[in-house]
Formats: sequence, C-alpha cells, structure tokens
Amino acid sequence: MKLGVVILAAGQGTRMKSSLPKVLHKLAEKPLLGHVIDTARTIGVDRIAVVYGHGGEQVPAAFQAADLLWVEQAKQLGTGHAVEQALPAMDGMDRVLILYGDVPLIRSETLAALLEAGKASPLVLLTATLADPAGYGRIVRDENSTIRCIVEQKDAGAEVLALREINTGIMLVDGSRLKSWIARLENDNAQGEFYLTDIVAMAVAEGAEVRSAQPRDVCEVQGVNDKVQLAELERHLQRSRAEVLMRQGVTLRDPARFDLRGTLMVGRDVELDINVLFAGDVVLGDNVRVGANTVIRDSRIGSGVQIFENCVIDSAVIGDCAQIGPFARLRPAAKLAANVHVGNFVEIKKSQVDEGSKINHLSYIGDCTIGRSVNVGAGTITCNYDGANKYPTVIEDNAFIGSDTQLVAPVTVGAGATVGAGSTITKDVPADSLALSRTRQIGRSGWKRPEKQR
Ligand code: UD1
Ligand code: CA
Repeated sequence: MKLGVVILAAGQGTRMKSSLPKVLHKLAEKPLLGHVIDTARTIGVDRIAVVYGHGGEQVPAAFQAADLLWVEQAKQLGTGHAVEQALPAMDGMDRVLILYGDVPLIRSETLAALLEAGKASPLVLLTATLADPAGYGRIVRDENSTIRCIVEQKDAGAEVLALREINTGIMLVDGSRLKSWIARLENDNAQGEFYLTDIVAMAVAEGAEVRSAQPRDVCEVQGVNDKVQLAELERHLQRSRAEVLMRQGVTLRDPARFDLRGTLMVGRDVELDINVLFAGDVVLGDNVRVGANTVIRDSRIGSGVQIFENCVIDSAVIGDCAQIGPFARLRPAAKLAANVHVGNFVEIKKSQVDEGSKINHLSYIGDCTIGRSVNVGAGTITCNYDGANKYPTVIEDNAFIGSDTQLVAPVTVGAGATVGAGSTITKDVPADSLALSRTRQIGRSGWKRPEKQR
C-alpha cells in the first residue's frame, strides 16, 4: 500500500500582515511547513507533494530536501482545486493523506490513527468538537451518527451552524477514488470555490462509509492565521517539549520560561534555571546545571558542567566539570577540555583550551591554542587580526599570563613561561622564562596635580 501526502500551502495568509508567505513563518525556529513535512516523514510516506502558490518560489526555495514534489497552484480556487493540482504527483498512490501547511502541530500518533481507520474506509476525516466552531466546515451526521456531508460555514443554515463537530481539513482518501471525486467537483457555492469537502457527500452517495478520527489535543489541528495564533502555538509546543524533558528527569525551574528551538539530548540530573534557550542540536551530559538567561546553540556540553547566569554559547564543545560564566560568550569552535574555568566577560572564539586552564575575567581569546593548567589573567587579549588576516596564538602548558596582556599574533608563549602584567607580547616567549614589556614605573615625590585656574 503506497501512501502519498499532499500538503496544502498555497493560501495567502493576509492576516499575518507580512511579506513572508504564511507557511514560512517560524515556530521554534522551523517554518510552519517544515513541521508538517517532518511529521509526515515519521509515518512512512512514499511521496510528499506540497501545493504552493502565494509567495511563489520563495516557498520551495526555503526547503532543500530533494524528494519533495512542488506543485504550483497559480490561483487559489479552493481546497479541491489545490488537491487537483497535486493529483499527477500522487499517481500510483493507494492512499492520499491531505495535510495543511499552516497546521503545524499535528502529531504522528494522530495520523497513525487516521491510517488505521483508513484500512476499513476509503475516506477518513479528522474531526474535532469545539466549543466555538465558528468559521469551520461542520460535520453533518444522520440519526445513526453516520457522516453524511460537510457544510462550510458560509453555506450553512442555522441548524448546521449549531453543530459543534468540525472538519479539521486533514483527511485520508483512497487514491483512485480521490481522482474520480475531484473530477466531479463544482464551485456552485457561497464562495465560488472548489471545495475538497464536497467529496464527502460523493462518497456517501456511492455507499462508502466515511469514518472519522479525533486528535488527542485540539492544538494539533489549530491553524495559524495571525501572529497571536502563532504565539499561542509556540507556547503550546514549548510547553509540550518542556514536559517531555521533565519526564526524562530534567529539572526545569519553570517550564513556562524554557525554550527549545531544535533538539536537546540530556543526561541524568540536569537542572535548568529560568529563561534558558536552546537552539540547533545541543547535548548535555549528566549533572549539568545551567543558570538563568543563558542561550546555548549547537553545542556539546560534558557531565558536571556548571554554566552560570547570562552566558551565550554557540557551536562550542565543553569538557566535563568545566565552569562557565556568568556572562561568558563561547563562539563557534571554542573547544574547552575538562575542568576549564571561563569567567565573566570572557569571549572565546575558534580556540582550544586544555584541561584545567583558567580564563576568569574580561578576556578575548581568538584563534588560540591553550595548553593544560594555564592561567590567563584578567583583561588578556589575543590580538589575532591585523585588519586583513587572522593569526594564531599558542600558550603552552603551565604558562602564566599576567593581567592586561596583549598577545600580538602570531606568537607563542612556551611551557611554564610567565608574562608580566601589562605586557604587549610581540615575540615568542621561550619556555620557563619571564617576559615583561611594560614601561618602568617612575616616581616624583610631593608632586601636585594641576588646579583649575580662576
Ligand atoms: C477549510 C475547509 C473547512 C475546514 C477548514 C479547517 C474546505 C472547502 N473547507 O476551510 O471545512 O473546517 O479548512 O481550517 O476545504 N489552500 C490552498 N489553495 C486554495 C485554498 C486553500 O492551498 O485554493 C490551502 C490554504 O493555504 C490552507 C488550507 O488549504 O492551508 C485551507 O485553506 P483555508 O482557506 O484556510 O480553508 P477554509 O476555507 O477556511
Ligand atoms: Ca482556514
């Protein structure tokens, strides 16, 4: 049984008040349409076609995946017309699942339930019962609760408008019957559109039993039409991600102030304070603690690491039991070994820091290789850039860099060497030696500061 998916994504999204096509707006850093595509991929689909239109080539251009089939619907003449455009792409599919590109939180489990019901019926609708069904197509059932048809809000009379079971739009249809039904759609309705929903009455007329399934949570079938709904779904998504992590044993001080915009793998006994934001792919070892207001992107963090408040960590690797922050910034390709300490207002870029070394205060370390047990004093700067090119700095094991040192790269400080505070180091420092380049202090006893003239 081959399963094809058609994702409808041609609509304009006027209420987003944006020049970006609606389905490219992001939820947790991923376009709405990306969520739908990714979920579709989890249920064993053979083919995915996306019907796009509004926003033109911007939509396909936003997705790299080579296996997606893009179908243009130049004019949005209705959901039935949209699916019609995708029929050639669905050739040979035994079953076709219709999804909406602006309904991002649909879950795999719900789609699986639809597929299950589809074993016994050529048409399965995903429906929901809402306190306020306004705007949706209504599911009309007979006295035996058998589905008869769907009536759109704009075509409905008072009796139908009182029904609270709605069409979510998501449905599973037998492939060959879909073709024959779509071919017979007409647009003689209140909106002058080709309604996909009219296939329900056609199926019933042919004696087919139309079945239904329901999502566990109505958020799964909520569409995004404006920025308010976008924010609501973002919160909902974040809350459920937070719950998954808490069930894995993570302590979240406040799940309402937690954001995961990518993937997070965690060890045991991880504790996250408020306003910690993860993006990209992050791995945390056991016993990691992260302080409030910290952003971590695409990084690997070892066990026992403590990250204090207000750190920004991007594409870094941090070894076991390291201590970072508060107010530290680790930039791409910062690689810290075990037990490294990086303190406040320290920026580290494309540098390796070996075991037990400390850079505790107010430093810039760029394009640098630091050995073991090195102490980098407050205010040390690697001058790695001459305005055109970048150069490396090497600081070998057990070296001691006095405070307020400038290391003008390319330069090497040998093992065990000491650089006196306030030095500007422009030449290599041999191992186990002292380098000092500050000017000598002078003294004038009894010297008076100038006074303001009257
Ligand atoms: C549709 C359903 C309605 C259901 C509702 C759920 C029809 C006729 N009605 O209503 O029963 O309750 O969804 O939200 O199917 N789209 C296209 N091309 C088009 C028209 C729509 O790609 O020509 C896409 C939109 O981008 C959107 C989806 O289809 O993702 C639904 O379109 P929308 O206009 O929101 O559907 P409704 O008419 O509100
Ligand atoms: Ca709609």
